[in-house]
Amino acid sequence: MAVVYLTRKAHFSAAHRLHSEKLDDKQNEKIYGLCNNPYGHGHNYELEITIKGEPDPVTGMVMDLKELKDIINKQVVDRMDHKHLNFDVDFMKGVVPTAENIAIAIWNRLKTEIKTGELYEVKVFETPRNFVVYRGE
Ligand code: NI
Repeated sequence: MAVVYLTRKAHFSAAHRLHSEKLDDKQNEKIYGLCNNPYGHGHNYELEITIKGEPDPVTGMVMDLKELKDIINKQVVDRMDHKHLNFDVDFMKGVVPTAENIAIAIWNRLKTEIKTGELYEVKVFETPRNFVVYRGE
């Protein structure tokens, strides 16, 4: 049996502000710097969602990529694109919208939606140089 990792890329643009309610204003400014600016700033986020599984003996596919695209759009892109992550996205409420927490939130939204194969990895690029990987651990 062969295990294959299938990846679909996606994209959304969103605003956020890094600010923790557990810290005072001075500490927030010190830790987050420019990312703590009161009115937020934007990123062009790139996602790589990887599914692990064995190709179906009949179709040769781990998962239908069209179905994966639809799930990612419905669960993630439609909910986060052109939104302010601190205010507009219910599943980001109560967490600091770092790339780390975005990756965890996306994992939690996708995990139960993947019926063939299993969700293996969520990769969130906040910039071309900065990215986070979450594998549900
Ligand atoms: Ni930022």
